[in-house]
Amino acid sequence: MLIKLIFHIIFLLTILLPNIPFLLARDDGLALTPPMGFLSWERFACQTDCDRYPHSCINEQLYKDMADRLVADGYRELGYEYVNVDDCWSEKQRDSSGRLVADRKRFPSGIKALADYMHARRLKLGIYGDVGNLTCGGYPGQNNHTAGGHDYYDLDAQTVADWGVDSFKSDGCYEEPLDFDRLYPKMDKALNATGRNMVFICEWPFYQYVYRNMTPDYEAIAHTCHVYRSYKDVVDSWASIDEIITYYGTYNDLFRKYNGPGHFSDPDELTIGNWGLSWEQSRTQMAMWSMWSSPLYISTDLRKLRPEFKAILQNRAVIAVNQDRHGIMAKRVFADTNRQVWVKQVEPVVNGQWSYAVAYLNRELLGDAIYMSHKLSDLIPDTKPGVKYEIHDLFLDEGKEILGTITRDDQLELLINTAGAVRMVKLLVK
Ligand code: GLA
Repeated sequence: MLIKLIFHIIFLLTILLPNIPFLLARDDGLALTPPMGFLSWERFACQTDCDRYPHSCINEQLYKDMADRLVADGYRELGYEYVNVDDCWSEKQRDSSGRLVADRKRFPSGIKALADYMHARRLKLGIYGDVGNLTCGGYPGQNNHTAGGHDYYDLDAQTVADWGVDSFKSDGCYEEPLDFDRLYPKMDKALNATGRNMVFICEWPFYQYVYRNMTPDYEAIAHTCHVYRSYKDVVDSWASIDEIITYYGTYNDLFRKYNGPGHFSDPDELTIGNWGLSWEQSRTQMAMWSMWSSPLYISTDLRKLRPEFKAILQNRAVIAVNQDRHGIMAKRVFADTNRQVWVKQVEPVVNGQWSYAVAYLNRELLGDAIYMSHKLSDLIPDTKPGVKYEIHDLFLDEGKEILGTITRDDQLELLINTAGAVRMVKLLVK
């Protein structure tokens, strides 16, 4: 325990020193890079009819199948390690001692056995609750407005810890968002008191902003939650992804300030591999979520995924940008109606000069591919004269990885398809 603590302190110091915003990090050593894995909600939602939908209902077999795919198809080795259960997993009634119980028909072996299944495969299990009275799907939440102030935060935290759960998502349905500033820290305290390491996923800012038009207290949120959902639920469409990109652009300065090791703003799941996104738009979601250092929670049926979408989810170079240990969210340095440029500081740093990931985004819905071209010093104003970068094409669009070199007065020019397409390069400082 002591050795682990010392290790965490040393690790944190190495990243704290060059970047003051990291002082916000939770100090428990969890989620030092954005968590990666599977989360069932967007694809499988709350389907509980296992007679009619035996392969896509929320039951233990679904999560075991996804775990098997993560292992057998190479995702785990790339960092996708969480298998996160979402809503609709429990019985609607607690047991006689007030404990949560997994649905007896759909999870006959119970959650502890499911956690064991994950751990035996070097994976982790996440589960879901709600700081309110009920979950959004109407299952028991941690508060209880009907029992004279009695609540279940402590008992439920202990129950999931006893089951061996590794991550806990706390939704915000059936609760007043104005009370979240009190309730999310209360849930966090309950989870911490169990002594078990659990990544705490909150939906604190989303409900406050969308339903109460509040400016959430991001400082408190970043201190409390490892992952915090900032905006609406993603759905399977380009309109949804585009809206999230716009939102992250609008609040770019604010979100940048509160993103880093131990506390990541969450734009919600990756819908890549479902029906709504084109191949280009799928690359864009992967690129932008990585430019932001956002959690990568895949929500698709990994048993049926087409190879071209699997290749996007498994793009090592893009994942490396997402997992850069500094966790710095990209800055939007250019935006007009349809074009955007995002720039993210990444390793390696040579003689004090960072490397950068750059994403060019084309939202135009008409016409053929276009060139976008920006002078490097406009994108990265603090690039010193004489510093040279090698341009690495992260999706290999030109059939090779290295496209050339660039210095501050050169143009970074890339040809980009239309309809929500992206080009993503890494400028590797030499
Ligand atoms: C809310 C959350 C989603 C999902 C559902 C489950 O809408 O924002 O992420 O958890 O509830 O009912």
